[in-house]
Amino acid sequence: MLRPMRKVKVSLGDRSYSILVGTNLLSRLGLECRSRGLGNRCAVVTDKHVDGLYRKAATHSLESAGIEPSFITIEPGETAKNLKSVNACYDQLAAQRLERGSFIVALGGGVVGDLAGFLAATYLRGINFVQVPTTLLAHVDSSVGGKVGVNLKAGKNLVGAFHQPSIVLCDLDTLDTLSEREFRAGLAEVIKYGIIYDAALFRQLERGLDALLKREKAPLAKVVARCCAIKAEVVAQDEKEGGLRAILNFGHTIGHALEAISSYGKYLHGEAISIGQIAAARLSRRIQGLSQSDETRIENLFVRAGLPTRVVLGKRERSKLTEAMRMDKKARDGDVRFVLADRIGRVHFGLNVPTEHIHSVLDSLSESRHSRSR
Ligand SMILES: NC(=O)c1ccc[n+]([C@@H]2O[C@H](COP(=O)([O-])OP(=O)(O)OC[C@H]3O[C@@H](n4cnc5c(N)ncnc54)[C@H](O)[C@@H]3O)[C@@H](O)[C@H]2O)c1
Ligand SMILES: [Zn+2]
Repeated sequence: MLRPMRKVKVSLGDRSYSILVGTNLLSRLGLECRSRGLGNRCAVVTDKHVDGLYRKAATHSLESAGIEPSFITIEPGETAKNLKSVNACYDQLAAQRLERGSFIVALGGGVVGDLAGFLAATYLRGINFVQVPTTLLAHVDSSVGGKVGVNLKAGKNLVGAFHQPSIVLCDLDTLDTLSEREFRAGLAEVIKYGIIYDAALFRQLERGLDALLKREKAPLAKVVARCCAIKAEVVAQDEKEGGLRAILNFGHTIGHALEAISSYGKYLHGEAISIGQIAAARLSRRIQGLSQSDETRIENLFVRAGLPTRVVLGKRERSKLTEAMRMDKKARDGDVRFVLADRIGRVHFGLNVPTEHIHSVLDSLSESRHSRSR
């Protein structure tokens, strides 16, 4: 049975906030903002797709609570996450006379959340903001933790800030309109939480994947809330990425590099980190003693989720990939650091991996997968 609403607390002293997970939450947006004393006016930042789907519901909810919304709509997709869009949004915020007592609502996926959060962190030296994530990736990852920012030509997320939202509303109903491909891409982050932190969650995913793929609300609520709780725990211990927060990057070293060399076009983020996590699992087997059976379970789950697990790279692409890994902003002095698992549910971060291991794993990823049982 579906519980009415799950609540996850992110404990960060006076910047603490709640993440609400459930259905029909968009209709509570106005009330939740009101009960937190967020002011009478807000700018809802969204993208064109989401605007078409949810503007009406958001407006109705805010207005019913006596809050006057204005809307700022950006183009959908990663290419809009830049300083040019930020500039255009600042102008609109000023034209709409948004003042210090007003707030911003980020209504959309991770692109909208990162950009709107950055606006909130910087406009008038910082105003409040609320996250209403509408993709699975944004529900379990980007809306939680306070990292906000935009891309530069030189790389992803190179300009940004830490700015925590006042509340996060994960309305599972919004996931109904998400494309199959985007939904599955979000599952790559969900699986990641099982691998890095929670063997029981991983087992639950193995058992309940089919229901999740059907987007059944009760299992979805449980899993989304658990992922948010894990991210909240990690962020509460390491808000500004001094250490532990690095575990969230499992599969991302190779994943980010794959995204970079394919000019952020070929793979969705979740697809790139799916391949990245398979690579990390194989490295873990070689270096951290991850068991064959755990490696196989990891691989099988990504396959069942319909995510890519193979990549064939030519010689030039291969050297571009290793270069991109060195350029990653998390590399230290050009030294590539990995997060590796010694078993499902437990990882270590900051590990150096000899280049020959990386190459042999990349070789192994170009081999086709023999049909293993599901
Ligand atoms: N701040 C963080 O901690 C953090 C963590 C992970 C990822 N991110 C960022 O998140 C971004 C990726 O987020 P994303 O995957 O949500 O992508 P996205 O925001 O581009 O959304 C994906 C697509 O789905 C559409 N969409 C969104 N919600 C929809 C809905 N309910 N129904 C139908 N279509 C919908 C969007 O218009 C877009 O076309 C990246 O920029 C990444 O850097 C940030
Ligand atoms: Zn990610």
